[in-house]
Amino acid sequence: MSHPVRRLHSLHIRQGHPDFLDLPWELPLEAWPERSPRVVEVPRGLSRHVVVFVSYGATIYAFKETPARVAQREYDLLRGLEERRLPSVVPVGLAVQMEADGVSSAPDDRPGVLITQYLASSLPYRALFMHQGLERYRSRLLDAMAGLLVRLHLGGFFWGDCSLSNVLFRRDAGELQAYAVDAETSELHEQLSSGQREMDLQIMEENVAGGLADLAARVALPEELEDWQETATSIRQRYERLWAEINRELIVQPHESYRIHERIRTLNDLGFSVGEVELLANGQGSQLRMRTIVTDREYHRHQLHTLTGIVAEERQASLLLNEMQEMKATLTRKLDRSVPLSVAAFRWLDERYHPSLSRLQKDLGRAADTAELYCQVLEHKWFLSERAKRDVGLDAALQDYVTLNRKQPGIAPLLEDASRAASVETEAEDPSGAPLESRLPPGSNV
Ligand SMILES: Nc1ncnc2c1ncn2[C@@H]1O[C@H](COP(=O)(O)OP(=O)(O)OP(=O)(O)O)[C@@H](O)[C@H]1O
Ligand SMILES: [Mg+2]
Repeated sequence: MSHPVRRLHSLHIRQGHPDFLDLPWELPLEAWPERSPRVVEVPRGLSRHVVVFVSYGATIYAFKETPARVAQREYDLLRGLEERRLPSVVPVGLAVQMEADGVSSAPDDRPGVLITQYLASSLPYRALFMHQGLERYRSRLLDAMAGLLVRLHLGGFFWGDCSLSNVLFRRDAGELQAYAVDAETSELHEQLSSGQREMDLQIMEENVAGGLADLAARVALPEELEDWQETATSIRQRYERLWAEINRELIVQPHESYRIHERIRTLNDLGFSVGEVELLANGQGSQLRMRTIVTDREYHRHQLHTLTGIVAEERQASLLLNEMQEMKATLTRKLDRSVPLSVAAFRWLDERYHPSLSRLQKDLGRAADTAELYCQVLEHKWFLSERAKRDVGLDAALQDYVTLNRKQPGIAPLLEDASRAASVETEAEDPSGAPLESRLPPGSNV
């Protein structure tokens, strides 16, 4: 049995989490896996620091060891990202250990531990590349990374170390959403200069090309990503297109207010919420220069949450809202009077969403990401309907989805079970059977 080499100096934990006092704080993190039954294996990216994952019931936390000063800085930055509602892992606490003799290191250099909440159902890029069934998401990764960088830059976040390993991906109704995971080298500003943005893009390109080169040495990259440099450049191009679209100014005539609405709709369709619209006189004439200020890329998420209380990713939310809109149209036709979306939302929850999820839970087990699971069923319904050339209906789709997943369990990353999640990353392992996604025709994520 190993002797204590450290002891806990201080522990700061945000409300609503365990006190973590049952963990072996007398040891460095690298010794925790042998000493604490709470340590679990989960899919994870590469890292210089020791990172261990610890489970308290269904909640998993990531513990990262860095010098106390660095951990404090990263904790503060992650808090800042959270306040600005930018997509990143959420900080939970900060611990400082000290050598058991109590004198060895200066306070700032003591071993610190940053605690963050494990981003549920997240996939590191290596899992996307190494596991069957996730092929369709690989090229989406480029859009997700570009979108993440645009959002962070709009929020004044200079990353300084954007790389494939520092991004986590969550499936979002056939697409991916990306989250920042490592803010050690970052800075938060009121606004970023174009020089800062350019520097971040250069760092991203270098890191992504390097990350893909490393990966190519271990697995065959899909053809479209084979050229590392080109792939990195393509993320920059996607970034620049999106940035230009968001910041595009429009010249409008005073009688053209419909064009203002059109512009807001376009941004909303891209998921951006428009916080302010500025109209400025353009020179001498009556023309106006219109500038929109976007606040976040969570337009549909907000709307879905307000209507139903469901927390979902942006594209999931947009698909679920579409279903509610369909229900609203059907009700309006049936009742021959206008039905508000809030009424349709209530009926949708009661008649479709909740019953479908209970049935899936009964037949397939609990899912960590219920919105994604429901979206997969919707997608399956479209797939079946397209094949049958008629609407097969939700019941038939549910039935078929369950039957297929029983035959070839393919939704493993969705199941709320750390040990199953861990099997996704075990590289030597070949998951049994191709998951549902691999059956679907490319681009069927309507
Ligand atoms: N909260 C979290 N949720 C899910 N995964 C996480 C979380 N925190 C860390 N990870 C995983 O652990 C890996 C390493 O974390 P992180 O990037 O913070 O470590 P690092 O040592 O600072 O990395 P680097 O080598 O880039 O400096 C990440 O790539 C990610 O896969
Ligand atoms: Mg990292």
